[in-house]
Amino acid sequence: MTAQIIDGKAIAATIRGEIAKEVAKLKEEHGVAPGLAAVLVGERKDSQTYVRMKKKACAEVGIKSIGVDLPESVSQEELIARVRELNADPEVDGILVQLPLPDHINEEAVLAEIDITKDVDGFHPINIGRLSMKGRHPLFVPCTPRGVIELLDRTGIEIEGKNAVILGRSNIVGLPVSMLLLHRNATITICHSRTKNLPEVTRRADILIAAIGRAEMVRGDWIKPGAAVIDVGVNAVDDATRKRGYRLVGDVNFEEAKEVAGYITPVPGGVGPMTIAMLLKNTLDGRKRRLGLIE
Ligand code: GUN
Repeated sequence: MTAQIIDGKAIAATIRGEIAKEVAKLKEEHGVAPGLAAVLVGERKDSQTYVRMKKKACAEVGIKSIGVDLPESVSQEELIARVRELNADPEVDGILVQLPLPDHINEEAVLAEIDITKDVDGFHPINIGRLSMKGRHPLFVPCTPRGVIELLDRTGIEIEGKNAVILGRSNIVGLPVSMLLLHRNATITICHSRTKNLPEVTRRADILIAAIGRAEMVRGDWIKPGAAVIDVGVNAVDDATRKRGYRLVGDVNFEEAKEVAGYITPVPGGVGPMTIAMLLKNTLDGRKRRLGLIE
């Protein structure tokens, strides 16, 4: 059996097209474009790349982006003061603080300062708290987890009643995606570094979400035949045949897994493009909510 490859790049392009149309309509009818503020602290190359990609994606759909670049040495007070300025800025509908932050800054304290109506990453404790409870509604859901659900939905993969196994319990992916799958009536199992007999657990998964950050750790024989495998990992491995000296691989051994799974996302070109598409969608939703067009 060879799995159907879930083309996240194509699905994300469709979504970006839908967003561009909505942004154009908003401009026409209300005379405003949504605005996203991206706060980048320090000089991490990966964070710089992510922020650059996010700003470029904004420009392509007509969302205004406002870059706030701060030095590695910025104090927590100064960073919080900048977040508060953005909270008060009427042109800003979404605020993202790129993570990780330098060690001397308390991430939780900073994220808690973001106005929950502008929390497009969905990392504010109130939004995460609402996501973790039954019958409560977060204003925003974190982008990568939202992208994972969107990929499953747009591929026609049923979630209700299925066994979903999540590898990883991070605040950014593992935990929130588990909550979303639970709200959709999947039976969830969350695995982590202390889980015993991992392959035995993953082999029970109808839906397997890999978000552990370990290159190609999930082997073909960890997968139930026909399962949907969503690979959130992005790992650089040395590759002398590439100009840049490395290539990106997921947490799943793609070549082995595609022979067993029913559906699989590639890396790159699977979940990654969806994260940015969901950030744009959240930013648009932020403006629509402020205009009273959605709840
Ligand atoms: N760092 C890794 N992923 C993310 C993300 O989705 N949002 C932010 N702000 N930082 C990240």
